[in-house]
Amino acid sequence: MRCFSFLSAATLAATALAQTHTDCNPLTRDGCPVMPALGSNATFYFNKTMSDSIWNITAGGVDWTQKGATFTIASRGQSPTVKSNFYILFGRVSVIMKSARGTGIVSSFILQSEDLDEIDWEFLGANTTHVLTNYFGKGNTTDFSRGKEFKSDPPQEGFHNYTIDWTKDKTEWWLDGTLLRTLKFGEALGGKNYPQTPMTVRMGSWAGGDTKNNDPGVVAWAGGETNFKDGPFIMTVQELYVEDYTSGKEYQWGDRSGSWESIKVVEGTSEAMKEILKPHGVTNHWTTLSKGAKVAILASIGGVVAIGLIVLSFCCVKQRRAGRREYLAHEAIMTKEAAELLHYKNQMAQGKFGHGSHMI
Ligand SMILES: *[C@@H]1O[C@H](CO)[C@@H](O)[C@H](O)[C@H]1NC(C)=O
Ligand SMILES: *[C@@H]1O[C@H](CO)[C@@H](O)[C@H](O)[C@H]1NC(C)=O
Ligand SMILES: *[C@@H]1O[C@H](CO)[C@@H](O)[C@H](O)[C@H]1NC(C)=O
Ligand SMILES: *[C@@H]1O[C@H](CO)[C@@H](O)[C@H](O)[C@H]1NC(C)=O
Ligand SMILES: *[C@@H]1O[C@H](CO)[C@@H](O)[C@H](O)[C@H]1NC(C)=O
Ligand SMILES: *[C@@H]1O[C@H](CO)[C@@H](O)[C@H](O)[C@H]1NC(C)=O
Repeated sequence: MRCFSFLSAATLAATALAQTHTDCNPLTRDGCPVMPALGSNATFYFNKTMSDSIWNITAGGVDWTQKGATFTIASRGQSPTVKSNFYILFGRVSVIMKSARGTGIVSSFILQSEDLDEIDWEFLGANTTHVLTNYFGKGNTTDFSRGKEFKSDPPQEGFHNYTIDWTKDKTEWWLDGTLLRTLKFGEALGGKNYPQTPMTVRMGSWAGGDTKNNDPGVVAWAGGETNFKDGPFIMTVQELYVEDYTSGKEYQWGDRSGSWESIKVVEGTSEAMKEILKPHGVTNHWTTLSKGAKVAILASIGGVVAIGLIVLSFCCVKQRRAGRREYLAHEAIMTKEAAELLHYKNQMAQGKFGHGSHMI
C-alpha cells in the first residue's frame, strides 16, 4: 500500500513536470513559473561535461565527448535532446554543429518559449543540399509561409555556423556568415505571431522516418523511412555562443498577452551566469580526471546509493525509476510534439502530402 501511494505520487509529479505547456499555458493562466534568465553572454564548448544545472538532458543518448556533444540515435525510439535551463529575451545564438546523416533522421537547433513561440534550424539526414528554417508564434500552425529552405553545403559532412539573431523588430538566420533570411515583426500576422517571449535553447535529433511511431505524413516530411540498421546516426555540436539581449536574473509573465512588453525582468545576476563564471566548477574537471579517479567517484556515489537502497524498499526504488523513465518519455514526446509535429501539421496544411495521410 505504501509503495502504491508512492508510485502514484511519483507518477503525478512526473506528469506535472513534463506537461508544463498544458499545465501552465501563460496565454490562458496567471502565475506560470518564473523563468531563470541567462542575462549575459556565454560561450559553451561542449568538449567537456556540462553542468546539469545549465544544460538539461531531457531525453537520453547525449554524451559530452572530446569531439563535442554527441546526440546518438542507435535504435528505434531514441530522441536525444538537451535544453538550456536558462531563458533569453531576444538575443543571438550561434551553434557550430554537424547534423546527423540517415534517411528520416531530423537534427534540430531551436529556440522555444513556454507559450510555443519558436525559431528553428532543421536538417534532414538524407538531404545534403538544403537546410530548413522556420518559426512559430504562440503555437499557431495555420499560416503557410513560415518554413523556408535554403541551399547549403552538406550539413552532415562538415561543421557549420548556424546563427539566429532575434530582436523585437526582426529575426535573422545566418549560415557561415551569410544572411539567409529576415523575418520582420510585422510580417508575422502584424506582430501577433512574432516570436517574442523568453526562449530556451534546444538541440537534438529524432527519427521522423520511424514508421512504427510516426504517421506516413511525418515519414514523408522527414525524407523517408529510417533503416535503424544503418545507424548509429550522430549529430555533433562543438560550440555554442549565446547572448541574451536582456540583462537580468529572471523573466516573469506579466499578463496573458504573450507580448514582449508584458514580460517583467527581475534585475540581478542569473544563477546560470554564477555557475558559468565559477572558476573551478566540479563539472569542468570531469573530462580531465583520470579514468581511475572517475571510477573512484562513481564508486563512492555508488556507495551512497547502496545505503539508500537498504533504507528504501525494493519496490519503491523500482517505482521511482519507472517514474523517471516515464518522465523522460513524456519530456521527449513533448519536445518532439512542440518542435516537430507543428511543422508536420504545417506541411500537411500546405497539402504537401498525398491524400493517404491524415491530420494529427
Ligand atoms: C556581450 O557581447 C557584446 C558584443 O557582441 C558586447 O557588446 C557586450 O558588452 C557583451 N556583454 C557582456 C555582459 O559581456
Ligand atoms: C575544448 O575546445 C576549446 C576550443 O576549441 C579548447 O580551447 C579547449 O582546450 C578544449 N578542451 C578540452 C578539454 O579538450
Ligand atoms: C530538467 O528539466 C525539468 C523540466 O523540464 C526540470 O523539472 C528539472 O528540474 C530539470 N533538471 C535540472 C537538473 O535542472
Ligand atoms: C532537399 O530539400 C530540397 C528543398 O526542400 C528539395 O528540393 C530536394 O529535393 C531535397 N533533396 C532530397 C534528396 O531530399
Ligand atoms: C493563426 O494564423 C493565421 C494565419 O496567419 C491567422 O489567420 C489566425 O488568426 C491566427 N490564429 C491566432 C489564434 O492568432
Ligand atoms: C557565427 O556566425 C555569426 C554570424 O555571422 C558570427 O557573428 C559569429 O562570430 C560566428 N561564430 C563563429 C564561432 O564563427
